Amino acid sequence: MKRTQHCNELRPAHIGQMVTLCGWVHSRRDLGGLIFIDVRDREGRTQTVFDPSDLPKELFERAAALRSECVVRVTGKVRQRPAGTNNPKIPTGEVEVMVKELEVLNVADVLPFPVDDPEVASKVNEELRLKYRYLDLRRPEMARNLRVRSKVATATRVFMDEQGFLEVETPTLFKSTPEGAREFLVPCRTNPGLFYALPQSPQQFKQILMVAGVEKYFQLARCYRDEDLRADRQPEFTQIDIEMSFIEREDIYALIEGLLQRVWKTALNIDVPVPFKRLTFEEALNRYGIDKPDTRLGMELADLTEDFRASKFKVFSGAVAAGGVVKALNAKGLACATQSQIETMTEYAKSFGAKGLAYIKVEKGADGATVEWKSPIVKFFNDAEKAALAKKLAIEEGDLILFAADQWLNACEILGKIRLYCADVLKTQGKLTIPTDRFDFLWVVDFPLLSFDKEQNRWYSSHHPFTAPVAEDIPMLKTDPKKVRGQHYDIVVNGVELGGGSIRIHQPDVQKTVFEEVLQIPPEMVKARFGYMLEAFRFGAPPHGGIALGFDRLIAILCNTASIRDVIAFPKTAKGTCLMTDSPGSVEPKQLRDLHLELKVAKKE
Ligand code: AMO
Ligand code: AMP
Repeated sequence: MKRTQHCNELRPAHIGQMVTLCGWVHSRRDLGGLIFIDVRDREGRTQTVFDPSDLPKELFERAAALRSECVVRVTGKVRQRPAGTNNPKIPTGEVEVMVKELEVLNVADVLPFPVDDPEVASKVNEELRLKYRYLDLRRPEMARNLRVRSKVATATRVFMDEQGFLEVETPTLFKSTPEGAREFLVPCRTNPGLFYALPQSPQQFKQILMVAGVEKYFQLARCYRDEDLRADRQPEFTQIDIEMSFIEREDIYALIEGLLQRVWKTALNIDVPVPFKRLTFEEALNRYGIDKPDTRLGMELADLTEDFRASKFKVFSGAVAAGGVVKALNAKGLACATQSQIETMTEYAKSFGAKGLAYIKVEKGADGATVEWKSPIVKFFNDAEKAALAKKLAIEEGDLILFAADQWLNACEILGKIRLYCADVLKTQGKLTIPTDRFDFLWVVDFPLLSFDKEQNRWYSSHHPFTAPVAEDIPMLKTDPKKVRGQHYDIVVNGVELGGGSIRIHQPDVQKTVFEEVLQIPPEMVKARFGYMLEAFRFGAPPHGGIALGFDRLIAILCNTASIRDVIAFPKTAKGTCLMTDSPGSVEPKQLRDLHLELKVAKKE
């Protein structure tokens, strides 16, 4: 089955040589009595030519019967392409192979969608692509994504090895733990009524590895979460999971900056400047309205609370009197928004809790010379308020100013979402373009350790319950939990949360306080679920911390694709199904009996 070259290799230097290529029939053209077939393999493609005057009739007929994606082995002589027929788009475009022998290794049925034309392929319905994933993966763009993924995995392993890390595998049959996302359960034949759970991450095992003295651990770890799926979330996904002992936050920042530098160099040949910018959680919300800001978009939020404290416009002064804030953003270039577009935006803001979305359109006045603020609310503003707005938002003709008056977090988050919405509109209107090779990395730090769940009337961990409080805030754990900062950090690039981690609690008594008194997990449950960890911490746990990067998100960013499905060989749909293998699927009654299970729902067809 030997081939002499891959389909990307032939150049003018090979002219006159006999070569053998193996691959798929990428495309076929019949011209002037000749048949031209582009043979494609993993590496590239080469044009082959079948000339009836030079070939046995039987061979030419076999070539004439070839359909797209048949598997062939061709042998022939390399020649210069005739003048004017070079294809500068492919590296083998100066030559072609005059075929002498053809072996059809396998035939292909008519395809459900073409794989040779990127234009057409990009419009193929994703469900069809997922059902015939093996065809989809033959498309050069998808093959490139798999290659980037493999290269980055290797670069990561090499880098982590250079830094003295051990790759340790941790179990994927774990047990159920409260907190965090919903889990996938695995029934257990040998222990009736008991279940494994698939791990949401190797968090607990990696901390135990620190107690075990491993000091520097990493793993390309498979994680499982039964969450609502989106473009950037899959039920099973991969993390670059890391944990280290005897370190501080700065050590993690330096390590990850080095790793990402290596990855960007390997995948894109880009030199990423370090250190990355840092923003506190509070600053990120104040300026961008989100804890994973896309700083490439500009359009920072302004705070106008003090300027409108005594305003005649009661919507604003009332919000301030109630302990809230007034915030605004300037969507430059969107003054052209129609009334119905503003209404759509207002409804969108209301869908996540806004009480309204006050606005000012800054347009040329009727006289064509002066600039006018068109808005139903400006009549309530005095000169000082107008001056503050003009200054803080650098208002000019063409701007659309949007306001949120609410409690601090709500106001920030509402405008944060509106900011992204406006950026999308500006992008489609061609008023905002961002170069594809721009990457804004930043660390978000000083998250609150805890967030409050109003429905359940209890505190929950902003990151996870193993995150250490900032040392000086520990005394407030019992008295004023909302003020306690966590030693938690997120790494963000272009508005994507690439990873997160923390310095951990390594003192068993602090960990117990967090579980039982702060998170109010009943002591029996703490013992059943985390008892082994608290016990391990009593036998010499070093101070430690770590981080996990979403590997699929990392590759999606490098491949410039919005969906992580495009960088996973066999992803699930948004409903969590695999259309190719038709999973999840039903099982035989005997299997259920063996597992001591009984179904209470009718089988879904
Ligand atoms: P966290 O839950 O923040 O932290 O996850 C780390 C990173 O994993 C990626 N990620 C996902 N990627 C694809 N699909 C998903 N469903 C999904 N969920 C998360 C994200 C995220 O930033 N054990 C901790 C880390 C630590 O503290 O060391 C953890 O798992 O990119
Ligand atoms: P109203 O006085 O309710 O008619 O509102 C006047 C304008 O303010 C409308 O454009 C509303 O969408 C807007 N608005 C109302 N409440 C808020 C709020 N809390 N934050 C921002 N805008 C608001």
